[in-house]
Amino acid sequence: MSTTFQLDTATSRAHPTPAPLRRRTVPALRARKVDGVTTEPIVCLTAYTARQAQLLDAHCDLLLVGDSLGQVIYGLPSSVPVTLAMMAAHGAAVVRGSYRAVVIVDMPFGSYEASPEQAFANAAHLLKETGCAGVKLEGGAAMAPTVAFLCERGIPVVGHVGLTPQAVNALGGYGARGRSEAEAAKIVSDARALDAAGAFAIVVEGVVEPIAVAVTGAARCPVIGIGGSARCDGQILVAEDMLGMFERVPRFVKRYGEIAGLISEAAGRYAADVRARSFPGPEQTYQPK
Ligand code: KIV
Repeated sequence: MSTTFQLDTATSRAHPTPAPLRRRTVPALRARKVDGVTTEPIVCLTAYTARQAQLLDAHCDLLLVGDSLGQVIYGLPSSVPVTLAMMAAHGAAVVRGSYRAVVIVDMPFGSYEASPEQAFANAAHLLKETGCAGVKLEGGAAMAPTVAFLCERGIPVVGHVGLTPQAVNALGGYGARGRSEAEAAKIVSDARALDAAGAFAIVVEGVVEPIAVAVTGAARCPVIGIGGSARCDGQILVAEDMLGMFERVPRFVKRYGEIAGLISEAAGRYAADVRARSFPGPEQTYQPK
């Protein structure tokens, strides 16, 4: 598959392309945190489609093509069944729809754990197919050699500790992590290992707040919280969650919109118009000249 990274606005429903802006870079985001201090928090959201990327791009430093697309887009029960092909297709769409944000694509379960070589082959595939700037992978100290292997070979990596949804079968659910002292210490040491291995940022998900603060203090690189703490170096949410697409969302989500209601209401009005034969009207029909 070959990809073009800019939308052809002559043939798409896209906004007119803004004059291509210089995209933010991984080193620039990494450099937001200096000597443990991030003065400007890093704004991140997930995006899975070109149109969504267009709308979010102006507001975000980083767009993550998360493997949460398994549940959000495909209706899967978890992110475990998500494939590399799905990530590549959605990653390319998000790169095409964005001009400014750093785009990072999640490595799906099974695409990186076997060996650093497996991870490199699949991460390189994602970079080539999508035009993204780097990848994210889940796991702590066990993944540090893989993170180092990728970073030393030119692939920027975001780590992910705490609640790691790809491990749902091992964790037994999506509850907050770090409630025991041993688990809390492990999450902090996992973050330290990823930081030392060269991760340019680390997501900390679903942990009790003191752990999120401890991870943020322990890592030299920026720590992005989701269900963490406002004291993290940045925040990320699944865009559909904060837009109000779903009735049930994790407790750490704040709703900034009510998009499900808008869609349902618009579909209801359309259905009523069709049934009443009032759509299409004169403005939507072609007449002979
Ligand atoms: O898959 C995803 O969307 C993620 C974010 C929630 C961090 O990993």
